[in-house]
Amino acid sequence: MDMDIEKKRPDLSNAEVMDIDTYFKRLVQPETPPAIWRWDDIVKVMDGMEADPKRYPSYRRAVCLVNNSWAGAPGASPALFAGFQRFRPGEHLPPHKHNSVALYYWVQGKGRAIVNGTEIDFKAGDVLTCPAWNEHQFFNTGDEDLIMFSIHDLPILAQMRALFWEEPMGQENIQHIVKSEAASWNADEHEEDVANLKSILIKTAN
Ligand SMILES: [Fe+2]
Repeated sequence: MDMDIEKKRPDLSNAEVMDIDTYFKRLVQPETPPAIWRWDDIVKVMDGMEADPKRYPSYRRAVCLVNNSWAGAPGASPALFAGFQRFRPGEHLPPHKHNSVALYYWVQGKGRAIVNGTEIDFKAGDVLTCPAWNEHQFFNTGDEDLIMFSIHDLPILAQMRALFWEEPMGQENIQHIVKSEAASWNADEHEEDVANLKSILIKTAN
C-alpha cells in the first residue's frame, strides 16, 4: 500500500526559497522592442493556407503575428494576440467561444456576425468586440474576400494557465487550452491528427 502512495508522489524538486532581491532580478522581464509585420508576408501565409484547403479549413486559417523578443506564451505583445483571417465569398467561420476577449476589425469586405444569437451586419472599417465566453460565428456575405484583423488578450490568459476554448460548441468540447493534453483549440482534433501537420512560418524582413 505504501509503495503505491510513493509512486504517485509528484516531483517537487522545482521549489526554491530566496531573498527578495534575487526574486526581483528574476521578475524583471526583458525589454519588448517594437516589431512590424509586413502585409506582403501576411498575404503569403494566407495564400499558402488557401493552397491547401484540406489542411486549412476556414476555422483554421488564422495568420498569427508573433514577436520573438521574450520567452513564454507567444503574441504580438506579452499580453496580446494579433492575427488576420481571410474568408472567401460564401465562407463561414463556425460557432465557438473562448474566455479571451476579442476585438475584430474588418479591413476589407462585408459580413454578418452572430454573437450569442444576435445578428450583427458589418463592413470594412467596422469594429466589433466579442466579450469573453460569448458564442460567435462569422459569415462572408459579400462578393469579395473578407479580411478580418483580430486582437485577443490570449497570451496573458495562457501565462496565467486560465485560457479556455469551446469549439465546436458543446459542453463536451470545453478545453483548458494550456494543459498539455489539449492538442489543438478545436476539441475534434486529437494529438495524432495534429502531430505531423506542416507549418507555414515566415521571418519578416525589415
Ligand atoms: Fe473566436
